[in-house]
Amino acid sequence: MSESQPPISARKRLVLRRPDDWHLHLRDGELLKAVLPATARVFERAIVMPNLVPPVATVDAALAYRERIRKALPRGSAFTPLMTCYLTEETLPETLREGQRRGVFTAAKLYPAGATTNSAAGVSDIHRIHPLLTTMEKIGLPLLVHGEVVDPAVDIFDREAVFIEAVLDPLRKQFPGLRIVFEHLTSAAGVAYVQAQSAHLGATITPHHLIINRNHILVGGIRPHLYCLPIAKRDADRQALRRAATSGDPRFFLGTDSAPHPRSAKECACGCAGIFNAPNALPCLAQVFEEEGALDRLEAFVSAHGAQFYGLPLNKGQLTLHRQDRPAPAPSAVHAGQASLQVFDPGFALYWAVGD
Ligand code: NCD
Ligand code: ZN
Repeated sequence: MSESQPPISARKRLVLRRPDDWHLHLRDGELLKAVLPATARVFERAIVMPNLVPPVATVDAALAYRERIRKALPRGSAFTPLMTCYLTEETLPETLREGQRRGVFTAAKLYPAGATTNSAAGVSDIHRIHPLLTTMEKIGLPLLVHGEVVDPAVDIFDREAVFIEAVLDPLRKQFPGLRIVFEHLTSAAGVAYVQAQSAHLGATITPHHLIINRNHILVGGIRPHLYCLPIAKRDADRQALRRAATSGDPRFFLGTDSAPHPRSAKECACGCAGIFNAPNALPCLAQVFEEEGALDRLEAFVSAHGAQFYGLPLNKGQLTLHRQDRPAPAPSAVHAGQASLQVFDPGFALYWAVGD
C-alpha cells in the first residue's frame, strides 16, 4: 500500500460506482412524489415492485406506471426505473413475452397470495403458473420471489426456511435454466441455500436485515417501524446475512426493500409491514461494511453484483460517501401531503453521509 493512501478502514471519503437498488417500492400518487427523490439522489436504477392496487400485471399498466415515475422525478435526474410484472394465476405467457420484447419488463415477481402487502392477487398454487415459468426460462426473464409460505400452521419465523424446501428447491430442479432472485433474504438457512446453488440463483439483502434482529422489534416495547416482511429473525441470521453481503460473493446484492407506509398505517392496532429506508440506505450500509472491516467490498455489493446478475451494463457515474466527525441527526420523517413517513432508525448514530 502506498504511503499516501490510508488503509480503507481509516478513510474519510469513499468514491463508488453509482449504486442500483434491486428491490424497491415506490408506491403511487402523492407517496411516489414524496419518496422518489431520496432514491433518485443516490441510485441510478431500481427494480420497481409491482404491488400497487390494482397490481401492475399488464404491459400497459407497467408502461403507464413507468411514465408516472418519470414524471415524478426531480428535474435533471438520470434515474431509470426498471419495471416488473406482478404474476397472477391469470397472467398469459404472451404478456411476459411482449413486455420483454418491448423493453418494459426487466423481471416478473411472484407473490404467494396473502404473503405480504398487496399480495392478495398473487399465486396460491405454483403449479398453475408453470407455463409462465417455462416461458420465462426460455426467454431469459428473471423470476423474483417473495420467499415465504403462507400456511397458517407455519410459524412466521420459519416461513422462509419452509419456502425453500416446499417451493424453491422443487422449482430450481424443475426449471434449472430459470434465473431466480430470492428477494430480501432474512435467514441463515436462506444464505446457505443460495451458496449451495448455481449462479442462476441470486439474492437481494436489505440494509435493515443487516442491522436488526427480532429483539429490536419486540424487546422493551413493540416497534412498528421495524416491522417488515419477511420479519427480521435471530441474531445468528443477521450475522449470516452480514457475512454473505460482505463476502464478495456475486450472488448477493443490494435490494433495499424500502417500503413506505403512512405513520397512521404503521402505528395502529394492525400495522402494515414495510420499512422506509431509502433516505439512509447507503449511510447504513457503509457503517455495516465498516464494522465488518469490508468497506472495500461495499461497491461490489451495491454497484456491481446486481447488474451482473441481470446482465445489464455497470453504471458509469459515481457516488461519494463522506465519513463525518459528528453523527447525522436522528432520522426524521418525510411528508407526503397529510401523511408522515417515518425513516428507518438503525438504532445507532450514522457517521457516513452521501456527498454531492
Ligand atoms: C412490502 C410493502 O409494503 O409493499 N412490505 C414489506 O414489509 N417488505 C412488501 C414486501 O416486499 O413484502
Ligand atoms: Zn418488497
